[in-house]
Amino acid sequence: MGSRAHAVVLLLLAVVAVPSIALIKELEPGQVWPERGSVKQPSDLIQNVTDTTEDAVPAESELEDAPPEEVLITKAADLTKNDVQKVDYSGAQVWKVPTDKTGVKNIISRLRRRNLLSTWGGNQTYIDVLVKSNAITNVTRIMKRENITYHVVIDDLQKRIDEENPPLDQNELELQDRRGHRMTWKQYHRLADIHGFMDYLAKTYPSIVSVQSIGKSFEGRDLKMLRISNGKAGNKAVFIDGGIHAREWISPATVTYFINQFAENFDVESEDIKNIDWYFVPVLNPDGYEYTHMADRLWRKNRKPGVVGRACYGTDLNRNFGYRWGGKGASNNPCSEIYRGSRAFSEPETKAVSNFIKNIASNFTAYLTYHSYGQYLLYPWGYDNVVPPDYEQLNLVGNNIAQAIQQTGGSQYSVGSSSGLLYPAAGGSDDWAKAQGIKYTYTIELSDTGKYGFILPTSYIEPVARENLAGLRVLANVVHKG
Ligand code: ARG
Ligand code: ZN
Repeated sequence: MGSRAHAVVLLLLAVVAVPSIALIKELEPGQVWPERGSVKQPSDLIQNVTDTTEDAVPAESELEDAPPEEVLITKAADLTKNDVQKVDYSGAQVWKVPTDKTGVKNIISRLRRRNLLSTWGGNQTYIDVLVKSNAITNVTRIMKRENITYHVVIDDLQKRIDEENPPLDQNELELQDRRGHRMTWKQYHRLADIHGFMDYLAKTYPSIVSVQSIGKSFEGRDLKMLRISNGKAGNKAVFIDGGIHAREWISPATVTYFINQFAENFDVESEDIKNIDWYFVPVLNPDGYEYTHMADRLWRKNRKPGVVGRACYGTDLNRNFGYRWGGKGASNNPCSEIYRGSRAFSEPETKAVSNFIKNIASNFTAYLTYHSYGQYLLYPWGYDNVVPPDYEQLNLVGNNIAQAIQQTGGSQYSVGSSSGLLYPAAGGSDDWAKAQGIKYTYTIELSDTGKYGFILPTSYIEPVARENLAGLRVLANVVHKG
């Protein structure tokens, strides 16, 4: 870092220090929740500074830090061409590494910086890493030498990817043609099928379903939102999104399953469901989602190029929201998987959500964002290991949701604050929603717990979605009655 950069860091610290302290005080347990929109956003204050200083914030979490230089150059494929070269994961492996032994996290970070592995998941006790095929011998030797235990969870990643999403059989194809839309929940679908399904519902049930675009992605795709409502004045509202992270395919599949259930069976649905205004954005990162289908199954971020003239693409949308943006667990390196973007809400996808939620008159009582994997129900805060004033209620409702999930499908979900259960990560959509005064705010990490990770076979879609629908009913009851 040059001396200019040092000066900027000092300036930043000076600017950030005052409002941060004030914010922590404002949100201490036991205090009354501030008015909607009254919480100052630190990003508002530092925006002008960070705008011009790409290297200013040194914060980089232990778990997730950035690869050194333009390591993903070869992956930048042009989706408009038909001859897209897919990223090949032949021979790559996924390992589960316990991190209780001191020094393990540091060694993993070093291997990540050398671009020998990348992070898949993890919590306080272990980390799942993807070891690149050409690095297996090397990394194995290092682990032996350092006496680090691990076990191989996936021994040929490309094989898993090839088997994940097989084509539909003849019966299903015929059914599909007769239904008026192409969604099945027996396959992971392309964006066109998901959007076509949403439009179909709006056309078929115009009195309760409507579809609008809340904005465009960087590459110009619609950020489609579907609303379900009986139109009663005074309804509480719930906002649900999926697909913030491109590779977490189970998320859009689950959110569209909820939409299908509510829209197709509205008349016979429970009073809780019928008397809430539902807002769904099943694919908040459509560019990344399409990219995972076309070019790189494991892409996480959106597809906006980083700094002009450099080869790294994409911002982690879940580090780009404007509450405590740029804090722990977010990177300032455009090549990192957890790149926070050039400033809060620098990405059209996050900006669209924030505009929509801020400008609509609806009374949002809950915000749910579906991710994978790990089976967690996470409430704020994510930016650091602190909890909001009403965390006991969030914990209780979370436990009730987890119980419903378990009783329905048997999966066990852990409940806790996201920084406490996983790791601190600032700039998440959940923190921002909570800071807007939306009471029941959760990040839900769907199945599984690591056997398949992101590459969850299609046979899981229905069971995962079904048990989570049971969880959503518990939330709906709390929102409606509360
Ligand atoms: N797996 C998610 C992520 O890393 C967890 C986000 C939890 N929320 C948060 N604000 N850190 O993006
Ligand atoms: Zn995610």
